[in-house]
Amino acid sequence: KYKAVIFDLDGVICHTDRYHYQAWKQVAEELGVYFDEEINNRLRGISRMESLEIILENYHGNLNQEEKTFLAEKKNEIYKELLKHMSPKDLSGEVKATLNALRLKGLKLGIGSSSKNAGFILERIGLFGYFDAISDGNNIINSKPDPEVFLKAARFLSEDPKGCLVVEDAKAGLEAAKAGNMDCGAIGDGISCNIATYQLNTFSDLLKIVEP
Ligand code: G6P
Ligand code: MG
Repeated sequence: KYKAVIFDLDGVICHTDRYHYQAWKQVAEELGVYFDEEINNRLRGISRMESLEIILENYHGNLNQEEKTFLAEKKNEIYKELLKHMSPKDLSGEVKATLNALRLKGLKLGIGSSSKNAGFILERIGLFGYFDAISDGNNIINSKPDPEVFLKAARFLSEDPKGCLVVEDAKAGLEAAKAGNMDCGAIGDGISCNIATYQLNTFSDLLKIVEP
């Protein structure tokens, strides 16, 4: 049924979501703004600037565009420092084995991530050059829940979106897949959204979904 699988990166292939949390937490603390895991879950899949706007919902004051850009850049500097701790050890054996098994079944594998750091992360975990196509924050205008990032991934893979399965941990990402007319599997935090085509309790459940 499926010709390709398009994976979100943060929170699906690897756990950079905790680094996003730590970096935003530091920025929020310096601003004196309340921030917790629940707010962090709302940031999954959406762009850096949109994430900042959500964090600033609890900020009582006015910031101009320049100040906002400064804060977003500061968060990214902290985040990139944290990413340096990542290594191929941060790619789980289960994820690696599942990706290889999907490829052996003849499926094309792509990345559909809102992050502008996707290439750097893939390099850190030893997957640079592994995927057949990468669509990320550098080639899109509209972030998830807009389907752009996934539709471009399908195009880069030369596949019809209907033949692509999206794997996501974010509500915004699952909505993006739906908006692009693509089936999707929810994993991790995405399971509680109840809008996915499939619920994946664990990454290797993907092997039960795709045709042998
Ligand atoms: C992913 C994460 C989001 C993050 C976005 C942008 O989708 O789930 O939390 O805001 O990427 O990441 P970036 O690395 O470009 O700041
Ligand atoms: Mg994600």
